[in-house]
Amino acid sequence: MTATTTTARLLLLPGDGIGPEVMAEARRVLTAAGDRFGITFDCDERLIGGAAIDAYGVPLRDEEIDAARNADAILLGAVGGPKWSDPNAPVRPEQGLLKIRKALGLYANLRPVATLDALAAASPVKKEIVRGTDLVVVRELTGGLYFGRPSRQWHDRRGRVAIDTLIYREHEIARVARLAFDLAKQRKGKVTSVDKANVLSSSRLWRQLVTEIAADYPEVTLDHMLVDAATMHLIRNPRGFDVIVTENMFGDILTDEASVLAGSLGVLPSASLGDADADGRRRGLYEPIHGSAPDIAGQSKANPIGMILSAAMMLRTSLGRDDAATAIEVAVSNVLAAGTRTGDIAGDGPVLSTTQMGEAIAAAVATPRPAATAR
Ligand code: IPM
Ligand code: MG
Repeated sequence: MTATTTTARLLLLPGDGIGPEVMAEARRVLTAAGDRFGITFDCDERLIGGAAIDAYGVPLRDEEIDAARNADAILLGAVGGPKWSDPNAPVRPEQGLLKIRKALGLYANLRPVATLDALAAASPVKKEIVRGTDLVVVRELTGGLYFGRPSRQWHDRRGRVAIDTLIYREHEIARVARLAFDLAKQRKGKVTSVDKANVLSSSRLWRQLVTEIAADYPEVTLDHMLVDAATMHLIRNPRGFDVIVTENMFGDILTDEASVLAGSLGVLPSASLGDADADGRRRGLYEPIHGSAPDIAGQSKANPIGMILSAAMMLRTSLGRDDAATAIEVAVSNVLAAGTRTGDIAGDGPVLSTTQMGEAIAAAVATPRPAATAR
């Protein structure tokens, strides 16, 4: 029998913009799930991003990193906003996010994209194409251009110059590739590795290593795809993908594109994971893939589903509570199938607030009904 968590220490980092609004709804839904399944959440809420810059002068203090290490899991809202986006500012909110990913060794970012039937019509891509999409992007998260040194701007005789460095080491590629193959084994058995091996040395190393590792997974099929072609195939035939594994920057770009297949960026969760501990459980940081959406912040317009589904991923992956995770996912499907919509997915129909959507999902968790559809 696998161990099940009954008390979980959570670090909550709501961040900026709509972050605090969607975090409040995730808490509401977690409380409902905790009441039903006997889980107590001991929540420590702290600042990250612009909010932390305003309070402490830095986007994330070392105290918060220590708190993250002591927590069973971390939930994060979003960071950034126009107030802190001056390109000459010495500190930026995004540095807080990059710091926590790196400090905790969260090298694999899982971004599942599944198109719920109820939302197929909300996508700008034809519903015959998006219906049935069920893929996961495994984005490498602690290497590549985001962290390579040198990274700076300077002047020389001919004007201004800037450099960023795209560097990958063997172990960084191997560990994320293995995680992708392990995941594919539990899914449809297919890995698509995305790179730019026709141009970049780092991509040629990526391709070699992924090919070598594939030999340990005879039950998984491996394809390689160039990133430019991948952007096209994602929109032409999204059902052709199962697990996509790719480097940091390509994964950042591809997942914003892939979110369109699900109907809205607002419904997509993610998990950032490091290595598993002795009993197989992975500590992780869970966050929606959307940003802080400053244009709608403070108006209760944001869709909290991406944050709520991130909490479900946390229950399953870091806390071993498949029961509560599934209950939340079923509640989200049922609420959407019943026509409950925030502005991003409403079409011409009635629009609910962030709070009303959270309340509807929490109520559906508390009073279960069978799943409306398989997906
Ligand atoms: C994401 C975001 C971040 C990233 C930014 C905010 C630094 O776009 O999580 O996808 O690029 O990783
Ligand atoms: Mg991004």
